[in-house]
Amino acid sequence: MVEPNLLHVPVLEWYDANARDLPWRAVDATPWGVLVSEIMLQQTPVVRVLPVWHEWMERWPTPKALAAEPPGEAVRHWGRLGYPRRALRLHACARAITEEHAGEVPSDHATLLALPGVGEYTAAAVASFAYGGRHAVLDTNVRRVFARAVGAEEYPPQATSAAERRLAEALLPELGAARWGVAVMELGALVCTARSPRCADCPIAHVCAWRLAGKPPHAGPARKGQTYAGTDRQCRGRLLAVLRAAHGPVPKEALDVVWDDAVQRERALDGLVADGLAEHLPDGTFRLPHG
Ligand code: ADE
Repeated sequence: MVEPNLLHVPVLEWYDANARDLPWRAVDATPWGVLVSEIMLQQTPVVRVLPVWHEWMERWPTPKALAAEPPGEAVRHWGRLGYPRRALRLHACARAITEEHAGEVPSDHATLLALPGVGEYTAAAVASFAYGGRHAVLDTNVRRVFARAVGAEEYPPQATSAAERRLAEALLPELGAARWGVAVMELGALVCTARSPRCADCPIAHVCAWRLAGKPPHAGPARKGQTYAGTDRQCRGRLLAVLRAAHGPVPKEALDVVWDDAVQRERALDGLVADGLAEHLPDGTFRLPHG
């Protein structure tokens, strides 16, 4: 394997010169701001996250502020980020932080992991980026950079493997691990992109195992793109948009008009209720969750 130092110095220098100026990386970003950003960024691109993150930070600068609201308000202000169960998870997290941790986002990886909706990635990202802890932060960008630079593979496996975790830990610098993590992430986001990597601009192209092997294409099944039009996910998005725009219960007819296929519409609505994103009241109306 390539000597880690041969990666550290060029990647960190590249990051110093090329990092985007993102508000959750600012010196005045709070651990809460970092946690909110990481949940939002998991399935949504930076440009779409930025305005919603700013709105959240203004509205709910602390976990306590969000915890004081009903969960439906988190869903309402999730805007169009998609995968809105994340809003409920953040709300549950805010309540747990308020009730069990005196309103302070925990700094310890295991304590973070015990929060509702916080998985391995988010716990490592918050412990590292908000508190400077030494953790391997394995998001899809980081995994792709390591798959290429060290593994000579175009793409990492579908699910994070123990081998990837061991590799990421072996590559962690003794000092400055948090900066290293965000630097590799940024390299993956800006240069070592999924579809058309810009190897000419890459600070570690000269040691990249995939490039040195002639950039062999990924073997195995094609990576599936995500279709949206016509899906239950799109239908749920339309229904939820109606509930978000309304400031009270909504009659069923107001939901029926946003999607033609009744079978799919009923399934999507049942799904929203089952997921806790909507409430079905005894009078037959629907609203965002109040609990
Ligand atoms: N900076 C810190 N975490 C990030 C993420 N998940 N995506 C983009 N930039 C980030």
